[in-house]
Amino acid sequence: MRLYVNIDHVATVRQARGTDEPDPVRAAVLAELGGADGITVHLREDRRHVQDRDVRLLMETARTVVNLELAAASDVLALAEEWRPHQTTLVPERREEVTTEGGLTFSQATRAGLAEGVRRLKEAGIRTSLFIDPDPESVRASLDLGAHAVELHTGEYANARGAERDAQLGRLRRAAALGRSLGLAVHAGHGLTYENVAPLAAVEEIEELNIGHSIVSRAVFTGLERAVREMAEILRRARR
Ligand code: PXP
Repeated sequence: MRLYVNIDHVATVRQARGTDEPDPVRAAVLAELGGADGITVHLREDRRHVQDRDVRLLMETARTVVNLELAAASDVLALAEEWRPHQTTLVPERREEVTTEGGLTFSQATRAGLAEGVRRLKEAGIRTSLFIDPDPESVRASLDLGAHAVELHTGEYANARGAERDAQLGRLRRAAALGRSLGLAVHAGHGLTYENVAPLAAVEEIEELNIGHSIVSRAVFTGLERAVREMAEILRRARR
């Protein structure tokens, strides 16, 4: 199981003051020292947190790999072609949202844009994942579009309690099994915390988790290296 640490939230603190600290590029170094297998950043069209400079520097300095999240319809697609990160994850983007609220939708209107995005990224030699809701239609649609991987949206699982959480875990398990059986790599993320991650980390078909907010929140108290190390340890124990 790979742990990719999303450092957007470090950039959010920086942007709140419009200064040059805290620097997400320096955060990436500490995340890697703590055991991150990759660094995830979402370069949004409105540049509300991560900036072009951050990704450019990360591409030069990361000792692991960079997973760049982007919307297929944004100007970031051309930048991804230029920067060629190890992986891109196509996500839906709406200006008014606080964070990514759901997986990609595969309507006739969005499908063409996604197909074009996957095609261009593939042509640039970049492994491409699609951030989707954990349902069979979205998994199959991702395969049809030629994606290498899917990232299952875990937000509903994270927000659910009691029996509903078990139901959401079952839904994620089924989507992960379907994805694997179709030959897709399966990732997952959104809203995962130190408290809710273990059952998901135990799902054999899931090979990568993208986690940001909970790790950066803990890092405020413990430091980032330790916060990442503690999350990595939970993932390791879940597979024993
Ligand atoms: N995966 C994707 C596609 C995301 O957009 C985000 C949030 O930026 C995450 C994972 C990480 O979510 P969180 O910050 O809630 O851990």
